Amino acid sequence: MVARVSTVAFEGIEARAVDVQVQVAPGLPAFAIVGLPDKAVSEARERVRSALIASGLALPARRITVNLAPADLPKEGSHYDLPIALGLMAAIGAIPPDALSGFTVLGELGLDGSIAPVAGVLPAAIGANSRDEGLICPAACGAEAAWASPDIQIVAANSLIQIANHFRGTQVLSRPSPKVHEAEANLLDLRDIKGQESAKRALEIAAAGGHHLLMIGSPGAGKSMLAARLPSILPPLSPSELLEVSMIASVAGEIEGGALTARRPFRSPHHSASMAALTGGGMRAKPGEISLAHQGVLFLDELPEFDPRVLDSLRQPLENGEVSVSRANHRVTYPARFMLVAAMNPCRCGHAYEPGYSCKRGRIDRCTGDYQARISGPLMDRIDLRIEVPAVTASDLILPPPTEGSAEVAARVAVARDVQLARYAAAGLPHIRTNAEAPASVLETIAQPDTQGQKLLRDAAETMRLSRLSPRAARRPHARRSRRRGENRPAASRRSLVLPRARRRCQASRLSPSMVLCAA
Ligand SMILES: Nc1ncnc2c1ncn2[C@@H]1O[C@H](COP(=O)(O)OP(=O)(O)OP(=O)(O)O)[C@@H](O)[C@H]1O
Ligand SMILES: [Mg+2]
Repeated sequence: MVARVSTVAFEGIEARAVDVQVQVAPGLPAFAIVGLPDKAVSEARERVRSALIASGLALPARRITVNLAPADLPKEGSHYDLPIALGLMAAIGAIPPDALSGFTVLGELGLDGSIAPVAGVLPAAIGANSRDEGLICPAACGAEAAWASPDIQIVAANSLIQIANHFRGTQVLSRPSPKVHEAEANLLDLRDIKGQESAKRALEIAAAGGHHLLMIGSPGAGKSMLAARLPSILPPLSPSELLEVSMIASVAGEIEGGALTARRPFRSPHHSASMAALTGGGMRAKPGEISLAHQGVLFLDELPEFDPRVLDSLRQPLENGEVSVSRANHRVTYPARFMLVAAMNPCRCGHAYEPGYSCKRGRIDRCTGDYQARISGPLMDRIDLRIEVPAVTASDLILPPPTEGSAEVAARVAVARDVQLARYAAAGLPHIRTNAEAPASVLETIAQPDTQGQKLLRDAAETMRLSRLSPRAARRPHARRSRRRGENRPAASRRSLVLPRARRRCQASRLSPSMVLCAA
């Protein structure tokens, strides 16, 4: 007889149904697992054997074969332990044979029969719910599974014995309830930052439109400080975004205690991060930092210190909002629509933009050029807003704290996001949520510059040799700001203030002039 248990294999954040078939047949005692298992799945044999013994059940001295179907789909991870053990228990009559039908099962076993938490319970529960099945999972993941649907049946147990007792009816387990992380009250506040009004304004514009932002400035100017306060002004995740973000966090095993949070992700990987750490993949396919930052912020501090190849791997996700990782025998895709916020010094010594600074390494333009050349032009072109953060003056530092803090800015950002949602919904594009996500064709219609604005853009493109991407990037934040003031067209007057400064900057560095155009 073959006992069957449903479980899942993860492909990106999708949970694909896998059928665990357990056969106990006459023959020499053996325990084989087939169906493209990886090392962790093969080791399940030892954990299952010990867990069954610890639960008072001995493995029959017969030939046990476990097949994980479909056999050509690679199986990774330790979550196959529980379905294999329950399949065996059903095969030897320790639980009723039909008890497991209508359930998707996943969980890792300890040698003592305990059930340890595993990654991916939320997508597994959503997959099970779509097939009208219930879920058997570790007790620690029950609250996470409960988010899939209020109707899904969930058996969240601490041990194999609890599951056996539940199905025998001697100790019925209650359904867990979804948990939410308490809102963190101790978020860093923009009120801590004295002066830096333009930088704070740029941060607000970036947060409102979901634009990528680069801050360039001397050491100690407050760039990292500004970025760290971004979470306090971003709006909370909408219910659909919450589910998307939590599915990625679940597959990465980053949901603590099964509780979800509506706070937007803020990821700040160190500049020594590898390609696999940033984009995902590796020995066991896992979402990388850019996917964990989905619908939130990816903060790259000291941008030029990152490996240039790693930085260039961001170009495709920045365009498409997803990343495809090729593995030896298949390919996985993770969502990666994030807001890139980066900070850097203008040169290796860090002080190139300070008035009167003379560089020990030679000519300042060569020092800045060498340092900034580590970031490729195409990546720079994708950054909508680029601002200079000048060193804060001593007179600014002795000022009393500013009256406006994160709460006031967050309220304006929330209004701007609502305006964008309504705009794209009215245009029949409900999947676009921010200006940054709008494709170029849509920008043409929603951000038409007036005659003066067009002339300014043309002059800027000719004088500063803007690339095709740059004028498009240049248009976004202006369009957004104009509309927030109730205007339909970007105002040329504000831009014209910017151009002379832009030209100066272009002569001083190799950064694209559109950056300065956007930023002022
Ligand atoms: N505008 C400001 N208001 C109050 N404190 C500030 C301000 N700017 C900088 N500081 C102080 O300076 C410290 C250093 O700032 P921060 O680390 O953000 O600088 P940075 O620009 O990231 O420098 P680096 O280029 O070296 O990384 C902060 O922890 C803060 O104490
Ligand atoms: Mg810093």
